[in-house]
Amino acid sequence: MLSSLWNIILLVTISSASIIRDFQVAQPPVVPVDAKRCTVEIFSHDFANSFADGPAIAQLDPPDDCGSVGSWAAITLNLTVTTNGTQFDRLGIFTFHNVEIWRTSTFEPTIGDGIIWTYMKDVTQYIPLFSEPGEFLLELDNLIETGLDGVYSTTVTANYYESSTSHPSAKKADMIIPLSTLSNTTGDDASVPPSFSINVTIPQNTIAIYAELFASGNGLEEDWFFNVPDEFFPNISPNITSAHDGFREVRLLIDGLVAGVAFPYITIFSGGFIPSFWRPIGSYGVAELPTYFVDVSPFVPLLTDGLPHNFTLDVVSAEANHTINPNWFVSGILQVVLDSSSERTTGSLTVHSATDYANTSITGSVADFGHFDATVTATRGIHIEADILGGSGQSTHVVWTQDLVFSNIQTYRNDGLFATLTQTSNGTSTSTHNGVVVLSDIFSYPFKTRFDYLDATLTNWTSSIDHSYDRALLPNPLRVASTINNHQTTDGFFQLGAEKMGNFGNGTNNNTFSYFDAEGNTYTRRVNATNSNFNDTITIPLDEIGGNLAH
Ligand SMILES: *[C@@H]1O[C@H](CO)[C@@H](O)[C@H](O)[C@H]1NC(C)=O
Ligand SMILES: *[C@@H]1O[C@H](CO)[C@@H](O)[C@H](O)[C@H]1NC(C)=O
Ligand SMILES: *[C@@H]1O[C@H](CO)[C@@H](O)[C@H](O)[C@H]1NC(C)=O
Ligand SMILES: *[C@@H]1O[C@H](CO)[C@@H](O)[C@H](O)[C@H]1NC(C)=O
Ligand SMILES: *[C@@H]1O[C@H](CO)[C@@H](O)[C@H](O)[C@H]1NC(C)=O
Ligand SMILES: *[C@@H]1O[C@H](CO)[C@@H](O)[C@H](O)[C@H]1NC(C)=O
Ligand SMILES: *[C@@H]1O[C@H](CO)[C@@H](O)[C@H](O)[C@H]1NC(C)=O
Ligand SMILES: *[C@@H]1O[C@H](CO)[C@@H](O)[C@H](O)[C@H]1NC(C)=O
Ligand SMILES: *[C@@H]1O[C@H](CO)[C@@H](O)[C@H](O)[C@H]1NC(C)=O
Ligand SMILES: *[C@@H]1O[C@H](CO)[C@@H](O)[C@H](O)[C@H]1NC(C)=O
Ligand SMILES: *[C@@H]1O[C@H](CO)[C@@H](O)[C@H](O)[C@H]1NC(C)=O
Ligand SMILES: *[C@@H]1O[C@H](CO)[C@@H](O)[C@H](O)[C@H]1NC(C)=O
Repeated sequence: MLSSLWNIILLVTISSASIIRDFQVAQPPVVPVDAKRCTVEIFSHDFANSFADGPAIAQLDPPDDCGSVGSWAAITLNLTVTTNGTQFDRLGIFTFHNVEIWRTSTFEPTIGDGIIWTYMKDVTQYIPLFSEPGEFLLELDNLIETGLDGVYSTTVTANYYESSTSHPSAKKADMIIPLSTLSNTTGDDASVPPSFSINVTIPQNTIAIYAELFASGNGLEEDWFFNVPDEFFPNISPNITSAHDGFREVRLLIDGLVAGVAFPYITIFSGGFIPSFWRPIGSYGVAELPTYFVDVSPFVPLLTDGLPHNFTLDVVSAEANHTINPNWFVSGILQVVLDSSSERTTGSLTVHSATDYANTSITGSVADFGHFDATVTATRGIHIEADILGGSGQSTHVVWTQDLVFSNIQTYRNDGLFATLTQTSNGTSTSTHNGVVVLSDIFSYPFKTRFDYLDATLTNWTSSIDHSYDRALLPNPLRVASTINNHQTTDGFFQLGAEKMGNFGNGTNNNTFSYFDAEGNTYTRRVNATNSNFNDTITIPLDEIGGNLAH
């Protein structure tokens, strides 16, 4: 492994006369830089009235000039977008063979010369999909109307890296099965509530299944963490926030039994809080929303009967009836591992200790209308065990556990115009197969914010955020364990103009990022920015990149 240390220090002031290059801090995908690379343009597409016109759809065939199909060392996708004018942030869903492989969101454009960004996404884990010709789709619903003229012009390319003795083929599942709507004309994610269910039939010689879940809140659920418990909702103007509390649990059920859950990370889209926070540095996760992992292997003995089984995804709150607002977009992926024998796998689910819902509590006190404190807490313990006997005689004892803790402390003052929120969400999920750790997720997503409307017109406000993403993750045994620590602090002011136009904002955004993985790859970045106005000046007083991936 090359171990150079690379440092860039930049002091840049970008004026409105040039195109602004936005970015989300992230490690570059780990790829063999000296391997043969084959680049395929998947499509170039302008998303204008795409709510009506639909997604970009292209047929993608595996290249045959980078070694044998499926034997690649890595695959990455390059999404490059330019846009100019005024537009909301928009959600982007990439699917291939009806499987969601990447959820992203757009940066908001500027007038002047607009913006550009590139994000590189590692899709090596989906090599089984890229090994077959199929329909590749990006749903990015956009709307052009008075005051909103930004068109998102995208180019998507795939890079395949040839394997060799020094860069072996990536490990891969034998099969990938979507938990999606299977639509060929949209992004395949389901909108919940109500819950989404799909029948899945798995091969009878399956010996392990690892799930990956996608989930993000939209509409009244975009700021779910700010939602007020129903008990306190009569004490605040519905113009300020929404009901159904600030706790969300994403659940995966199999035939009605909880298989695993996620306490989601807060992804703030580029129109969130104060849009000028996020120019040019996006909130962590905005270009590649975090996903969540569950070892579904303990259910294998129940699933190998050759019959369809009911997989359900939903999102629930801490309210007595678990209700949430519309809507969350959810989907999932099953990475399936088969036994060497084609005989049916047998065994039994020996322990299933998982309540239907997390243990939650809602407390607080009201002084007056728009003046109250509310706290939501949740804990979640899951313990599932199984013995799995493959047709080859291979026997595996699986233990899957989750131990998660959450709290969301809200204070509202001054008729609700002044709010603070302190949220902690952390936990450990672990799976062992015959005592060997195959999945481990140790996360902590602390989030602290202040949101201060300057008067009852709700047209101007100041806000600050202190947000971290700390996660040591081995998603499944087909991938490499890595640790990411990101800390982002922002503060600023915003003044809403007339008719979605003429907004004024400013802000600072300071980030400290580090990545390291079990193969010795490292990447660090410290970058600060100030954006003094929507269309005006960006200053980057600090941009320091280090680690052996810093090329
Ligand atoms: C990504 O694609 C854009 C244009 O499509 C290209 O200009 C850029 O060099 C590519 N970036 C990388 C890192 O491949
Ligand atoms: C962006 O739009 C403005 C106003 O329509 C125009 O003057 C400018 O040339 C455009 N910039 C680019 C890079 O297209
Ligand atoms: C999607 O296309 C596949 C292949 O043509 C077809 O089998 C399937 O029925 C289609 N799905 C839907 C929901 O139309
Ligand atoms: C699953 O299949 C059963 C019949 O095997 C059917 O009754 C049920 O409606 C199906 N469920 C879904 C979600 O498609
Ligand atoms: C909410 O906003 C609407 C329209 O802006 C206004 O008519 C209404 O009085 C507001 N409600 C409260 C409770 O402030
Ligand atoms: C699938 O499971 C969910 C959750 O238990 C349940 O609500 C739904 O009715 C089930 N669907 C079928 C077709 O059995
Ligand atoms: C759940 O309870 C809330 C009150 O806490 C109520 O507003 C809502 O309508 C209920 N939802 C359902 C689906 O029963
Ligand atoms: C969550 O974090 C708290 C304090 O940061 C720590 O005491 C606790 O052990 C953590 N819990 C889990 C399940 O990781
Ligand atoms: C906030 O907006 C209101 C209404 O547009 C305006 O009267 C007030 O002066 C603004 N306050 C600040 C501090 O800009
Ligand atoms: C970001 O760093 C700048 C320069 O040190 C500082 O002035 C600003 O207060 C910081 N902002 C935040 C939100 O940490
Ligand atoms: C942002 O703008 C407000 C209102 O004009 C001003 O009071 C504040 O000092 C500005 N902040 C920064 C960091 O430029
Ligand atoms: C960058 O931001 C960090 C964290 O807020 C701060 O400590 C540091 O002084 C800033 N450095 C510069 C040069 O802005």
